[in-house]
Amino acid sequence: MTRTRPAAVIVLAAGGGTRMKSQTPKVLHAIGGRSLVGHALRAARSVGPDHLVVVVGHGRDQVGPAVSASDPGVTLVVQEDQLGTGHAVQIALAELPALSGTVLVTYGDVPLLAGDTLAELVRQHESDDNAVTVLTARVDDPTGYGRVVRAADGGVSAIVEHKDATDDQLAIDEINSGIYAFDAAVLSDALRRVGSDNAQGELYLTDVVGIARGDGRRTGAFETTDRWQTEGVNDRVQLATLGAELNRRTLVRLMRAGVTVVDPASTWIDDTVTVEPDVTVLPGVQLHGATQIGAGATIGPDSTLTDVEVGAGASVVRTHGSGAVLGAGVNVGPFSYLRPGTVLGEGGKIGAFVEAKNATIGAGSKVPHLSYVGDAEIGEQTNIGAGTIFANYDGVKKHRTTIGSHCRTSSNNTFVAPVNVADGAATGAGTVVRRDVPPGALAVSSGPQRHIEDWVVTKRAGTPAAEAALKAQQASGDTDPVPSGDTAEENDR
Ligand code: UD1
Ligand code: CA
Repeated sequence: MTRTRPAAVIVLAAGGGTRMKSQTPKVLHAIGGRSLVGHALRAARSVGPDHLVVVVGHGRDQVGPAVSASDPGVTLVVQEDQLGTGHAVQIALAELPALSGTVLVTYGDVPLLAGDTLAELVRQHESDDNAVTVLTARVDDPTGYGRVVRAADGGVSAIVEHKDATDDQLAIDEINSGIYAFDAAVLSDALRRVGSDNAQGELYLTDVVGIARGDGRRTGAFETTDRWQTEGVNDRVQLATLGAELNRRTLVRLMRAGVTVVDPASTWIDDTVTVEPDVTVLPGVQLHGATQIGAGATIGPDSTLTDVEVGAGASVVRTHGSGAVLGAGVNVGPFSYLRPGTVLGEGGKIGAFVEAKNATIGAGSKVPHLSYVGDAEIGEQTNIGAGTIFANYDGVKKHRTTIGSHCRTSSNNTFVAPVNVADGAATGAGTVVRRDVPPGALAVSSGPQRHIEDWVVTKRAGTPAAEAALKAQQASGDTDPVPSGDTAEENDR
């Protein structure tokens, strides 16, 4: 009988990860926007198992909830003491009903293993009618790995751990990845017979191979030529190495799908990000989390976007953003700071040195220069003048400002929230808006401009400014350059 859906996938993740030297459990360290165990769960889930079990131990108070959050369907099994890989699988099986069919075992710290590889492993395992199929790889330096001992018929007669191997066995360059397909009945039977008479005094899952073979069952190897898929993370050097390889693979996938990546070496895109065709990614860009980039957009150079949605045809230049939604055809940057809750409508602009937070800026509206827009609602086709501050915080509470559509607010305004500016209103330069502005009104708050004549000439006599002023007065025909009245005195200060 051939089934494509395995009965169970058991993910081993109870180990300590001491070489990470971290307060964070190893499998919760992330590459490409997903934890190591998150990658393992994704691959496991993709083959559609009836049961998905994760064996947790070290750091289980953190690992358990993280696993459940990323895949609520997972059965968590606690392994109090790590007595070996065989023991871990034993206690996982004990949590499940009696299984028939194929059981896969994978590791929580092998993040590049692809779901396709697992599916292929199941297919070969079942079509060869094997009791055990081991995912293997040939490596230049097999130090530390279990060695795959082949029988004359090409099957696998045993897996021997490095510490238990003879010199001849140490010379074998085909290693056990630790990922297997088992016949469920053979697995549970053999695990009852596994002993701990070995160099580490552990219950070795690998011994199942020799036991099944001894029972006259077929045991085979599925050799992968893609070494990366079997690589585990034990320290932070491997974390960075596998992170770089995952990034390389993500960029290749995107480029093949029609995305231009000008400089792959300086571009980091999480596995979790979606980028539509004809997007151009310029050098120095990092795209993280749930970020989505619409077709034809240009991102960069030098931009970091986390959980940002960018509409089709938009341009985002030298921008740091998170939790923002940008409409189609918008222009953002250079040097913009988008904080969570920023929503920019189609064709809008958030320009140079503008910070936005919790602000909805309607279609076609523009905040082009040097401004802070916090806790605000701006309608459509409105223009906010250069150097505008939305004063949202009174020192105790945050308040909102609303500005209507088709407004023209002038430079250097302050909107003291809570305040509303109605549709079609305007403001003068330097206005501090403290009261609601009615539709179509012009709000001005600064007093009329007055001149204290000759103040510089008298109060700053002898300075280059005073000399320049005198010269200009003479040139303009002012016959009485020396102050006559008391105006400057009276108006001083
Ligand atoms: C194991 C294999 C070895 C293989 C190597 C590949 C055995 C006996 N050996 O060796 O043949 O080449 O993996 O990396 O299986 N774990 C538990 N509970 C335990 C012990 C381990 O959950 O009691 C988990 C660890 O968290 C880890 C994985 O199983 O994810 C492998 O454990 P590890 O101790 O690294 O096995 P190795 O000695 O490297
Ligand atoms: Ca290991």
